[in-house]
Amino acid sequence: MTKVIYPGTFDPITNGHMDIIERASRMFDHIVVAIAESPHKKPLLDLEVRCQLARDVLSHIPNIEVVGFNILLARFVEEQGGQVILRGLRAVSDFEYEFQLANMNRALAPDLETVFLTPDEKHSYISSTLIREIARLNGDVHKFVHPEVEKVLLEKFHGKA
Ligand code: COA
Repeated sequence: MTKVIYPGTFDPITNGHMDIIERASRMFDHIVVAIAESPHKKPLLDLEVRCQLARDVLSHIPNIEVVGFNILLARFVEEQGGQVILRGLRAVSDFEYEFQLANMNRALAPDLETVFLTPDEKHSYISSTLIREIARLNGDVHKFVHPEVEKVLLEKFHGKA
């Protein structure tokens, strides 16, 4: 059984992330969506909220689980019994950082492989930072995130559902 770990901050999970996860769910036996606490990014949403949102919007996919973590990714993957790290590549600009991350994880855990999937091009310009900014300024994010995510952002920024 191939168990793949898809790590990220997911602040919040977007349609782009979901696109990658749906593709991976057809390729791998089991996917762990690994939500990093990432305190250095000062996330808008608490780790538990990010995890619950991901569980809610991914509930239609049977072979996934969502787990929060706050340790070294290479160690987390080992603890989970995973063999593969999955990352999404949206544009060439993602490549340099992803290349560095993959090589560092390989240096830390030589048996670990990183694989990359590209989302549908209609999701290629989405980022969680842009979604948060648009929602904060009362813009419409419904094309970019699941309705549950939109609801949480509206509550967070404007106190309404
Ligand atoms: N669709 C939409 N957006 C996407 C996307 C997709 N398919 N793929 C990536 N993104 C966006 C994210 O929303 C995020 O946007 P933001 O920066 O505006 O919030 C950005 O691309 C990249 O962030 P993300 O995928 O969340 O990764 P990250 O860079 O925050 O975190 C970790 C990467 C969590 C894997 C890394 O920090 C990590 O491994 N942390 C654990 C600690 C550790 O081991 N550190 C050493 C690593 S060698």
